[in-house]
Amino acid sequence: MNILIKNGTIVNADKSTKAAIFIADGKISEINLPTAALPDETIFIDAQGKYILPGGIDPHVHLHLPVSAGFSADDFFTGSRAGLFGGTTSFLDFVTPRRGQTLPDALLQRKQEARNSLTDYSFHVSPVEWRESLPDEIQACIEEGITSFKVYMAYLDTIGLREDDLFRVMKAVGQAGGMVTVHCEMGEKVDKLRKKFIREGKTSPRWHPLSRPPELEAEAVEKAIHLAEKAGCPVYIVHVSSRLSLDYIRKAKLKGQPVFAETCPQYLLLNDTKYEGDFMNTAPYVMSPPLRKKEDNEALWKALSDGTINTIGTDHCPFTMEQKKQGINDFTKIPNGAGGIEQRLSLIYHYGVNQNRISINRFVEMVSALPAKIFGLYPRKGIIREGSDADLVIWDPDKEITISAQTHHQHCDINIYEGMKVKGAPETVIVNGKVAIKDGELQDVDLKGNLLYRRL
Ligand code: URP
Ligand code: ZN
Repeated sequence: MNILIKNGTIVNADKSTKAAIFIADGKISEINLPTAALPDETIFIDAQGKYILPGGIDPHVHLHLPVSAGFSADDFFTGSRAGLFGGTTSFLDFVTPRRGQTLPDALLQRKQEARNSLTDYSFHVSPVEWRESLPDEIQACIEEGITSFKVYMAYLDTIGLREDDLFRVMKAVGQAGGMVTVHCEMGEKVDKLRKKFIREGKTSPRWHPLSRPPELEAEAVEKAIHLAEKAGCPVYIVHVSSRLSLDYIRKAKLKGQPVFAETCPQYLLLNDTKYEGDFMNTAPYVMSPPLRKKEDNEALWKALSDGTINTIGTDHCPFTMEQKKQGINDFTKIPNGAGGIEQRLSLIYHYGVNQNRISINRFVEMVSALPAKIFGLYPRKGIIREGSDADLVIWDPDKEITISAQTHHQHCDINIYEGMKVKGAPETVIVNGKVAIKDGELQDVDLKGNLLYRRL
């Protein structure tokens, strides 16, 4: 498929330019009008009045994630499709081995589960325990193009690592040239609070945020940064939710330590008043870390504009109301997580760019360019330039959407942004050189996502 896009404004992280884009064989073949005659079957797109963005890259999603309530509601097909509707053309999911299972073996299994993705993807691989062979397993993953390793300081009874093992993993990843990504919450202290509340009969979702206070996130952020420095390993803090955590990230960056940070739309736009009400209205917001206060929202916006936060992911991990009901008598049994892969770009564009908190170039940087750079996909992804993959979003700055579970494409009956009105959304989405979304419809083209080989 050859495509010529004319009259649009190309928006990259560093600048915006008015130029044509010619796409051939899945790649951006030329910027500006092609010098040779156009092939007969070229599709023409007039992007007058529109922006052309590099496809969104969501660095943090959990598709088909097994939990005690079943699987997260989106699998690789429905999740990647929802992403496409919102302008996300690649994503990073996770490989979480069973105890005793090697990292390469778990990676092999996860690759099978991801085969029906419509868009390209990669994984962060999670060491869930230490063993002598782990450095070799990490090396084997790197040779397969996996450069990042996710560790959890929470969930100690299942996938979390205690401090000594965390340090060993960081050291092994650092020596192999990789990066650790860290879920920062002090697991033992969180578990104590959870147990205490349940013992005291405090079982409703309103106790969820109180069992995971911001101080326990900040303490974990400080520890993770300290351990990573000692281990000589670059560190990426996932889903930063609180103002307190930002101070530690800022300080480390100022010292020149390789520390990166991500936040998510829910921590910028929603707050803990969502936990006031009955189970059906509050359980949708049970996620970890929990929603914080309005002051935290504002501190995070500031951290986006001053560069403390590098990327915006979603932690897309939706569960249906039926699944959430597993915890109707005990908030600790509510599956943690919420969706957002489809709304990420529109939410950040509307509340960030339209409300003059960030420029459109910074928007592109955080939702596409930096995820690509930090995770070894740049310049194949994350930029519009000759030779890059033709993953493009023709963005209509005037398109208005009211977000709702009734109309979204996520495979879930809950949307935590229900009723929010946003202006700015994809008009057309091109993935690997094929028009995938047009006029609000998934096109009848053969879309096949591939596992991306990432470079250190
Ligand atoms: O609540 C969340 N975030 N669920 C997904 C798993 C995780 O902690 O990232
Ligand atoms: Zn997550």
